Amino acid sequence: MIKKCLFPAAGYGTRFLPVTKSIPKEMLPIVNKPLIQYGVEEAANAGMTDIAIVTGRGKHAIEDLFDNNQIIEEAVAGSDKEALLEETNTLMQTCTFSYTRQKQMKGLGDAILSGEPLVGNVPFGVVLADDLCVGQQQHHGVLAQMLEIYEKHRCSVVAIEEVPEQETHKYGVISGKEIEPGLYQVEDMVEKPPQGTAPSNLAIIGRYILTPDIFDLLRTTEPGSGDEIQITDAIKRQIGEGGVLAYKFLGRRFDCGSIHGFVEATSYFYEHYFRKE
Ligand code: G1P
Repeated sequence: MIKKCLFPAAGYGTRFLPVTKSIPKEMLPIVNKPLIQYGVEEAANAGMTDIAIVTGRGKHAIEDLFDNNQIIEEAVAGSDKEALLEETNTLMQTCTFSYTRQKQMKGLGDAILSGEPLVGNVPFGVVLADDLCVGQQQHHGVLAQMLEIYEKHRCSVVAIEEVPEQETHKYGVISGKEIEPGLYQVEDMVEKPPQGTAPSNLAIIGRYILTPDIFDLLRTTEPGSGDEIQITDAIKRQIGEGGVLAYKFLGRRFDCGSIHGFVEATSYFYEHYFRKE
């Protein structure tokens, strides 16, 4: 049973300036709920209730979200607005939250390595909150699906989806052998391959289950794409060790790190969960 889930949340979110001058990108709301809360709900739904968040300067709003706020609680007590706090309160009761800071912006791999003291020597989930995912069946999120695969195979698992050929340069891309419908034994992976060089159109999206040997591998992974330490490069080194699986999840993912995906997610959630007929 995997209990820990790591949320790298130190990035600047420059694509969303000016709002990200003062608000962490993980706090941008899809309708009324911050992106990171959707991610924590997905983790909790998979039984991963030890939430570890790697933050940076100016990210204290994330800690405030998962903490009591007596003034607001008293202000809405007894009114119909009280219900709006219910989901956050449930997470606060069922999960523990711990935080550490990434000291320098040296890439996603480095951010994950910064989380090692919070994770320890156990397998763990990773959620990139700006990839907002909805599972195909209700109550069966992407992490929960991946956990079933981990339980069976006991190796690192990355989530993938098919993207158009001309988009592959924005992602980590895998190639491999399909061993079951939608499940690939990874043979190669490349972070942000230049246009026209991707080994397939199977792009990694921001959900991972990683075995803890990843930390030692990250410590000796040289900077790669963008001169940053890339998690993709470290996971690639697990291919020859415990093996790596890539899983084409059932559901839908919104790239909320882009304005287009953010707007798409907003209308999807509005239509599905908020609009009163
Ligand atoms: C990161 C990963 C990349 C992955 C992507 C998914 O890239 O490095 O492998 O495909 O997340 O969203 P980023 O979007 O942070 O540049």
